Parts: sequence; structure tokens; C-alpha cells
Amino acid sequence: MKVLLLGSGGRECAFARAISRSPKVAALYIAPGNPGTAEYGTNVNLSPVNFGSLKQFVLSNNINLVVVGPEEPLVKGIFDYFHEDDQLHHVPVIGPSLAGARLEGSKKFAKGFMSRYGIPTAAYESFSQETLEAGYAFLEKLRAPYVLKADGLAAGKGVVILDSAEEAKRELASMLGGKFGTAGNTVVIEEFLSGIECSVFVATDGKNYKILPVAKDYKRIGEHDTGLNTGGMGAVSPVPFADEAFMEKVRVRIVEPTIAGLRFEKITYKGFIFIGLMNVGGEPFVIEYNVRMGDPETEVVLPRIESDLMDLFEGMAHGTLDKKELKITDRTATTVVCVSGGYPESYPKGFEITGLGENTDRSIVFHAGTALKEGKTVTSGGRVLAVTSLGASIEEALEGSYARIGQIDYQGKYFRRDIGQDLLKLKR
Ligand code: AMP
Ligand code: GLY
Repeated sequence: MKVLLLGSGGRECAFARAISRSPKVAALYIAPGNPGTAEYGTNVNLSPVNFGSLKQFVLSNNINLVVVGPEEPLVKGIFDYFHEDDQLHHVPVIGPSLAGARLEGSKKFAKGFMSRYGIPTAAYESFSQETLEAGYAFLEKLRAPYVLKADGLAAGKGVVILDSAEEAKRELASMLGGKFGTAGNTVVIEEFLSGIECSVFVATDGKNYKILPVAKDYKRIGEHDTGLNTGGMGAVSPVPFADEAFMEKVRVRIVEPTIAGLRFEKITYKGFIFIGLMNVGGEPFVIEYNVRMGDPETEVVLPRIESDLMDLFEGMAHGTLDKKELKITDRTATTVVCVSGGYPESYPKGFEITGLGENTDRSIVFHAGTALKEGKTVTSGGRVLAVTSLGASIEEALEGSYARIGQIDYQGKYFRRDIGQDLLKLKR
């Protein structure tokens, strides 16, 4: 098979590695990819949201499968674009339809979906400019902290959590007044859930599903979860508190009704569902849905999958996921993200990266924000590398990731030294 993978981050580098290992793959192209993905396939300089050029490429290179990494092409309707085009109809796209992508593209839709199917989530109401006064009244009724969410995609910045009702009212007015553009035309206000988060990934063909390894990510820039939010500074899989009993609750209360709801609403969904969960005293609540894999979670989830990822894609594309085997190793994977100094605010780039070394089955450097300049690998983004290791325990995997990071150098290199420490403390 000839595969086209869309995206250019650490997640896509992990996808590229897993896809390239399949004996079923004759050629892998990545649009646009990065210097890391080029080790596993051929990068092509095309934008994942320029559907017209993707069509030309797919047709002239006889691509048999398109795998979508980031949410943007999905929320812009790439699945439907292929499905409705006579020439592209036969090329499966791994990802939800436009209707399914609303689980991530509209918080109001996602919350409505959860309440229609009794899926546990924080109590909420949604408001628009016309109902601003009702929004103020709702805030008066809630207790601090206050959680406000812009309905649409806001580059990961659309969730604001505030301690006082006065601040929350000002924020509501500012969001509805255009702070996040049209993404904030509707704002969801919800109850604050207190607990520990994890990320559950589900592969589905719209009818059958497989639950992939669970991961925990670390979103804040500073150690002990302080400072600004980032795309993700590290991840661990498996997550000790997501044990069999907890995962059974997740399956029965969340995964099954989610798939059943999609079927009931006749929503075509042949892709990944990323369920952001809060464990509140042992009970799972959905914080959010995403319609793609997580980054950096993918960098620990895929290395733990021992079966052929292409098999999974075939099952998702053709509605035969129930016939496919998913084999997961018991070993722990950790990834630690090395970022550019200054990230997530502004940062300089173009610094040479040295000491990247050789990847093995137990130690893999995934490229995220890197570029090639005059034959050298240089920094070109906020999140530069995701350094993954596998081990018999969280401690052993972390040792591997940090040892490898010790060999890598570039100006302004920053990483969190406390990835996984909260999980180790909980275990003790
Ligand atoms: P999101 O941008 O949707 O990933 O949300 C950002 C973060 O806000 C989440 O990862 C949670 O840590 C936090 N968050 C969102 N909703 C809630 C909630 N209802 N209660 C507590 N924390 C929340
Ligand atoms: N790591 C969180 C995300 O991919 O949204």
C-alpha cells in the first residue's frame, strides 16, 4: 500500500515510524513532514489543508490510504472532500467526517452529545451575546473556580479557569465580545472538576472499536504543573491509576455510549477519538473530546503497540475492526519534550541540534519542530524533540529518556525534569 500521512509534528513522526515498520507499506509520503519523518518516508511540501493539491498528489502517486494527524484538516472537512469526490471516493481517509469532527470543533456540540447519551461530564450551560445576562446569573449560581470555554477551535487557548465570579463575568463578556474571534461567539460555562487527568484513545470504524494504551500528558511549561499551558511537555503510558476497574467504567460509561451515539446520529467516523478524562475519586468524567491522536501522547502510545498499525487502519477504513488484533506491550513508555527557550511565548529558532544519536527499539528521538539548514538539523519550532524510551517501569523508562536528552544539545534547550513524578508519588 502507498500511504500519505498529513502533519509535521512529533505525533506525525511517531505515526511515520509505526507505518514504515509495516510489511504492508510499499511507500510512505508525509505532507509536509519534518527531518524526523524523512527517516521513515518521503516528505512532500504540501499543506494538509490544501485539499486541491492533496487530490493531485494522491491521484498522480496512486495513494491507497490517507492518515490525518492534526485536527485542522478534519474540522475543515477532508474526509467529506475525499468521500464526495468521484476520483477520490475509493481512497480511505483515517479520520472522522465533518459531522464527527464537531466533537472537537464545537464544545457546545460535544457537551450536547454527552448529555444526549448520559456520558458523565461537568454540568454546563452555553451562552451567546444575546444571553450574556443569563450567563452572569449562571456564574452567580456556581462555585469557584469558574471554567469558561470558547465553543470553537482557539489554538488550544480557548479554556479559561478563574477564581472569582467578577473575573469570570469580565472574561465571559470579553470572550463573547470577540477575544477569540468567532470561536467565542458561543461560550460554554461549566462546573470545575477536581481530580487527576488522563488521555484515553479509541480507534473506531464507526461501529467497532479498540481502546489503545492510556497516557498521561504534562501540559504546563513549569515543573510541578506551574506556568503557562503548552502543547504538552511529556507523557507516560500506561497510567497506573487507570487500572482495570477504572478502564471498565470508562468503557461502559463513556466509550460504548460514544460509539452508540455516533451510530444513532448516523455520523460517519473512521478515525481516532481522544477522550480527555478527569478521574474524580475513581470516577471518570469527560473533560473534552478530540478527533485525532494527542501530541505528545502518540509518542508513547504507538511505541507500545506491537501489532501492525496498518492492520488497524484497514479495519478502521473498511468496518472490520472487530477482526483485527491489537497487541500492546506491558512495558512503560515515557517521552520528554525538549522545547526552545522562551516557549510557549516567543522564542528564537535556527539553532543547530547536536547529539541526536541513533534510534533503537527502546530509545527513539521523534522530531517535532526541527528543520534542515545547510545539511544541519536546526530548531524551528517551540516543541523541538520528543525523546521516548521504553522500560520495565516508569523509573526505568524515564532514566532512558533523560539519559538520551543529556546527549542532545542546542542553544536554549529546556525540558521538564519531573515528568511522571506525580504518578510515582501516587503509587507509593
Ligand atoms: P482543553 O483546552 O479543552 O484541553 O482544556 C484545557 C485544560 O483545562 C484541561 O486539560 C483541564 O486541565 C482543564 N479543564 C477543562 N475543563 C475543566 C473542568 N470542567 N474542570 C477542571 N479542569 C478543567
Ligand atoms: N496533548 C494534548 C493534545 O494533543 O491535545
